[in-house]
Amino acid sequence: MTETKKAREKTMRAVALDRFGGPETLKVQNLPIPEIGADEILIHVEAAGVGAWDPFEREGGFVEVLGRAPKFPYVLGTDGAGTVAAVSEKVKKFKEGDRVYALELGNPKGGFYAEYAAVKADNASLIPGALTMEQAAVLPSDALTALKGLDEVLDLRPDESVMIFGASGGIGHLAVQLAKRLGARVFAVASGEDGVGFVKRLGADAAVDGHSDNVLEVAREFAPDGIDAALVTAGGEATDRALSAIRAAGRVAYPNGVMPEPKPRAGVSIEAYDGEGGREAIDRLNQLIEAGPFEVHVHRTFPLEEAAAAQSTLAEHHLGKIALRVG
Ligand SMILES: NC(=O)c1ccc[n+]([C@@H]2O[C@H](COP(=O)([O-])OP(=O)(O)OC[C@H]3O[C@@H](n4cnc5c(N)ncnc54)[C@H](OP(=O)(O)O)[C@@H]3O)[C@@H](O)[C@H]2O)c1
Repeated sequence: MTETKKAREKTMRAVALDRFGGPETLKVQNLPIPEIGADEILIHVEAAGVGAWDPFEREGGFVEVLGRAPKFPYVLGTDGAGTVAAVSEKVKKFKEGDRVYALELGNPKGGFYAEYAAVKADNASLIPGALTMEQAAVLPSDALTALKGLDEVLDLRPDESVMIFGASGGIGHLAVQLAKRLGARVFAVASGEDGVGFVKRLGADAAVDGHSDNVLEVAREFAPDGIDAALVTAGGEATDRALSAIRAAGRVAYPNGVMPEPKPRAGVSIEAYDGEGGREAIDRLNQLIEAGPFEVHVHRTFPLEEAAAAQSTLAEHHLGKIALRVG
């Protein structure tokens, strides 16, 4: 093997930051392929999810959250999918060539905006259902956040009604389908007429455009005595107004990052939380996904080198998620 080829095999193409800052800090670089630890697998990344939080992380917003000094070059990308390229001896669940998806928040070995990523085996899974690589790549953080919100934080019961605010977005469109699968009646507050059509197609029992002025009217028709619970993925005046449709002693949950935070209301519990990975949560998610047709909506896929354009698309109206094609 020539020296050049050897060298090439130890390095990978990645979009990495040399400092935190604006979109101009996202640069294609050649970096060493990360090495796996005892409980890790190496993924040959085919697609990466572009998270709503990626611009915040790019600007250095996670340093405090993660409580450790950042290491540059810094590779973004919490979510991704690809094939297993290497497995540590201790890991029995995966073998080379398996099609997997995974998540790792603020991975010190580098994120998924790269040709390879080393992740904890417990944060990876075989791809469920008939999902494509792009669909699997954008899935984990938002789906696990949706599921934890519905299942654990709201403790949603099969006979209850739930409002999903921001229902046509990343977390929202997955939450609509997961809430239906948990047996709840779903009131979806989506963005725009296209958003309303989208969430109805995904199974929402009632849907309304959250930018219109008839949200409370439609909510009253849906649940005259008030809605039992709400999962909120976007904040602001429209959110606080819509939340007045939650019944007395009802529950509201929102993932940290939703800004402005929903205003508390007397007699309604409100809880902020973080989504989490881990074997148990991922297995439960996969089971629910495999219980029937499940749509992970990828609005648009950009090539890796256009990561900055992909991130700026986050600020524009769109349905579902944005992906990067890596390999
Ligand atoms: N703490 C955690 O563990 C965690 C995990 C994942 C995400 N998050 C945070 O959770 C938040 C949501 O994430 P996401 O991935 O779901 O983001 P997203 O895809 O941007 O979803 C938010 C959705 O809300 C919609 N929206 C805004 N105002 C609305 C209104 N008045 N009526 C109806 N819909 C409205 C947006 O529509 P447009 O398309 O028109 O903008 C968008 O579809 C972000 O802040 C993210 O950082 C936190």
